[in-house]
Amino acid sequence: MAISDFDLVLFGGTGDLAMRKLLPALYARDRARDLVPSARIVCIGRDNKTNEEFLQIVEQNSKPHISSATMDADVWQRFCGRIQYVSLNAKEPATYQNLVAALRNDPAISHVFYLATPPTLFSMICDNLSQAGLATPNARVVLEKPLGHDLESAKDINAQVGRYFSESQIFRIDHYLGKEAVQNLLALRFGNVLFEPLWRREWISDVQITIAEELGVGGRFDYYDTSGALRDMLQNHLLQLLCIVAMEPPVSNSADSVRDEKLKVLRSLKRFTPATLAMNVVRGQYRAGHVNGVAVPGYRKEEDANPDSRTETFVAVKAEIDTWRWAGVPFYLRTGKRMADSLAEIVVRFKSVPHSIFAQSNATPNCLVIRLQPDEGLHMNLMAKTPGDGMRLKPVELELDFREKFKTPRMEAYERLLLDVLRGQLTLFMRSDELEAAWEWVEPILEHWDQEESDPIPYSAGTWGPAAASALIGRDGLQWREEALPEV
Ligand code: BG6
Repeated sequence: MAISDFDLVLFGGTGDLAMRKLLPALYARDRARDLVPSARIVCIGRDNKTNEEFLQIVEQNSKPHISSATMDADVWQRFCGRIQYVSLNAKEPATYQNLVAALRNDPAISHVFYLATPPTLFSMICDNLSQAGLATPNARVVLEKPLGHDLESAKDINAQVGRYFSESQIFRIDHYLGKEAVQNLLALRFGNVLFEPLWRREWISDVQITIAEELGVGGRFDYYDTSGALRDMLQNHLLQLLCIVAMEPPVSNSADSVRDEKLKVLRSLKRFTPATLAMNVVRGQYRAGHVNGVAVPGYRKEEDANPDSRTETFVAVKAEIDTWRWAGVPFYLRTGKRMADSLAEIVVRFKSVPHSIFAQSNATPNCLVIRLQPDEGLHMNLMAKTPGDGMRLKPVELELDFREKFKTPRMEAYERLLLDVLRGQLTLFMRSDELEAAWEWVEPILEHWDQEESDPIPYSAGTWGPAAASALIGRDGLQWREEALPEV
């Protein structure tokens, strides 16, 4: 679908997200000729600066995030020509007149307000946009995470933003939904007949979803320490992945069909009680260790750290979905900083064959791995006969590497999501009820941790997290995938 002319306003236009992700993503789409020549990007900052001064900042802080292979001097010049800096204090209604003066006042031009600011400013910005006459029915607003700190604050954001914008105008970003491999999971499930009959409790034994990062939180301590792994990753990215794995086939790819099905999954997640929490949730915090052979400090020794912090940098959860399709199938979710590897993957393990006709007893159950990062692909484990005399079976891998298969250029998550915002396509964005349902499910965990006196369990940087996470899955007679793989 073509993109019509727009003025895209980046609140937080001088910030880290704008420099690292948003401007490079817009540059990439400009290079691909997705943006009409007259489209403009208005970057908001508090300081008084000339456009030239701001463009120098973009040159220094954003350009280095664009790979040299895609850097084209003419396109860069064209792209910079779209950028206009506007000084505005989000809390000062009078300064919104600077924005009014900068925007083109033509109903054919969409106004998109991207709020890459702390969520505490969302309500005030919407209020001031409205007072300035900018919250029109044609405008769109994009909300960047964190979308709240708990259920109450998420409800508050929904209510405040909802006073000025209708649901069809609100784009709540979860950048995981923009990843190529997540889209491919939809294609795998609903573009093939092969998996759907098996995609249920009768044939699937368990599902593991892991997002592991080697990175620590150096440089982001202030934000991270008020958030932690549960709020930063599990409440949003991991639960969104779980929804896509577990949802019923939507009737179409339209925004509400998909979001209705995801919402049903969130509402079917078994609620934790204080009694079940202790058994099913593990939180950890990294200590000093080695990542890729390099010594790294512990969380409490990071730059600007609070030496007594009790914030978790790792969380593992055993979730269950109370539906006919999934009753009794555990979904193990985990994420952590300073882990042994950087990867994101979904592992769907099938049940063992009901009866083996072969003498051999070591049949490995089939396993489908959907790899999101660092490579994008599918791996499927099958049992095959080894060549030669006798019936000796061995697990073998079918592999599909999307980068190998499709040589076409990739799109970063923010490129896809920004294009969808500009097109007004909501499928990959969370609806208000989805956001609240996700917070509702994590809320008992947060409350339990608030009351608990003990610290998160320490784990050494460069490992797969506390031993308690292995015990969590081990109690069910299972292992995390890397523990189950043969040593190489
Ligand atoms: C962000 C979190 O939402 O996702 C970060 O705030 C995390 O803490 C990042 O590092 C991970 O995203 P990706 O795309 O690099 O896996």
